[in-house]
Amino acid sequence: MKRTSLFILLVVISQCSLKAQTNRTKITLDASAREYKINRNIYGQFSEDLGRCIYGGIWVGPNSSIPNIDGIRKDIVEALRKIDVPVLRWPGGCFADGYHWKDGIGPRSKRPKTINSDWGGVTDDNAFGTAEFLEFCRLIGCQPYFTGNLGSGTVKELSQWVEYVNLDNVSQITDLRKKNGRGEPWGVKYWGLGNESWGCGGHMPPEYYAYFVRRYGTFMHTYGKYKPFKIAAGPGGGDYNWTNIIMKNAGRYIDGLSLHYYSWANQKTATDFDESGWFDIMKKTLEMNELIEKHSAIMDKYDPDKRVALVVDEWGTWYKVEPGTNPHFLYQQNTMRDAVAAACNLNIFNNHCDRVRMACIAQMVNVLQAMVLTKGEKMILTPTYYVFDLYRVHQDAMMVPVKISSGNYVFRGDTLAAINCSASIDSTGKMHISFVNIDPDVSENTTISLEGFRADGIAGKILTADKMNAHNTLKDSDSVKPGKFSAFSLKGNDLEVDMPPMSVIVLELRGKAGAAVEQGNPVR
Ligand code: AHR
Repeated sequence: MKRTSLFILLVVISQCSLKAQTNRTKITLDASAREYKINRNIYGQFSEDLGRCIYGGIWVGPNSSIPNIDGIRKDIVEALRKIDVPVLRWPGGCFADGYHWKDGIGPRSKRPKTINSDWGGVTDDNAFGTAEFLEFCRLIGCQPYFTGNLGSGTVKELSQWVEYVNLDNVSQITDLRKKNGRGEPWGVKYWGLGNESWGCGGHMPPEYYAYFVRRYGTFMHTYGKYKPFKIAAGPGGGDYNWTNIIMKNAGRYIDGLSLHYYSWANQKTATDFDESGWFDIMKKTLEMNELIEKHSAIMDKYDPDKRVALVVDEWGTWYKVEPGTNPHFLYQQNTMRDAVAAACNLNIFNNHCDRVRMACIAQMVNVLQAMVLTKGEKMILTPTYYVFDLYRVHQDAMMVPVKISSGNYVFRGDTLAAINCSASIDSTGKMHISFVNIDPDVSENTTISLEGFRADGIAGKILTADKMNAHNTLKDSDSVKPGKFSAFSLKGNDLEVDMPPMSVIVLELRGKAGAAVEQGNPVR
């Protein structure tokens, strides 16, 4: 063997053995320092009138051969009920600023046909409108979150939408509702004031949009016990100027400010990637932490009491569409990489629950980072679905602050923290810890010091795979799903966990927690 080949071989061998080594991560969880509640709305979702999210995904119509409840797919309802979706945003997205709600009420045969100009110019028969969406929310047990039209709609139109769904009194608008078969108001709490108003929602400068927020918001009245919770369209990614101007000029008129941020890799499909594609998505995903901290710091300047929630109402991975599908329909597969990215984001939201009090993954069915994919009458659950299932335990639990010194995930000279985690104590006193090991090759030995909590029993679940792009298909729908996890041991107050590569783990600790500090943010 030539000297140079021998040298290369030795370098490769040494790198492989380095990769196989187990790093060490140290975590401290101080249960007595719990102060903030993890608002269950952090586990919210987004369903836009886009591609096959609504039509074919949620709605098939009452005459379909696919089993349905008055037009809503039964299998979807059953799957989503199981993961306790707390809140669902609709009808957009970009679609919302072109949507006129009166097109989607009354007898379906009489509803106008409109064009979905944002997503492929397809004809929309408006069969899925206000009443159908609210019925879907009722069936899956979640709160509705409407995005109002500030781009092409009037103040009167939005004001009347609020009246249509929330007023319990006699008026022309409520007579219309009654004529359409609904006597009682539904009571819709969450309202978005437009969507991405800096972009598809009207390309407005922030100063101009801030006055839209004040004006449209003024005429969204409180009816009886239904007070609209008004969420202004927030920045895209790191547009800190937008946050600053909206908080300064309209902060006192809103209850929430949204943030949109996607982890993009739109040159390749969801399943077509190597480790560089994996690393890239992890790096982009972990940037969410900095975005939240910097936007929160600006919000703190105008709202030190944290009255206004940061609402991350669009987040997730975004790839090139699956081959052979309409590029405007944003249909993508979902792999172990997406599960790990989702778990990282949810840990970040949990750990910032003092300010982040709602988030909606984009999107629920058949679009972007979906929970569920459908083909005709068939349906599969994605790895991301299982992360939401595992993380349900954090909903409305008290967040336990995390101190972490993580081992590194090094790839081509770039370094990320291999492990992230969040923890909470629920109303029954159980502690749940959710860990992610983003390193696709190296297992991580982690020591957790439990302060203010004495554990006397532990159970664990894990979501992992042997390939980075492992995913579920119609033929193999159980390729990625959670299993039991038991690679942990407890010695006194020290918990040792061996986390396999690319894994999401949730531990449940039974035991006794010390008293908490006074609660900071009651769920609003
Ligand atoms: O989620 C898809 C699109 O992404 C939404 O319509 C828009 O708000 C964002 O740019």
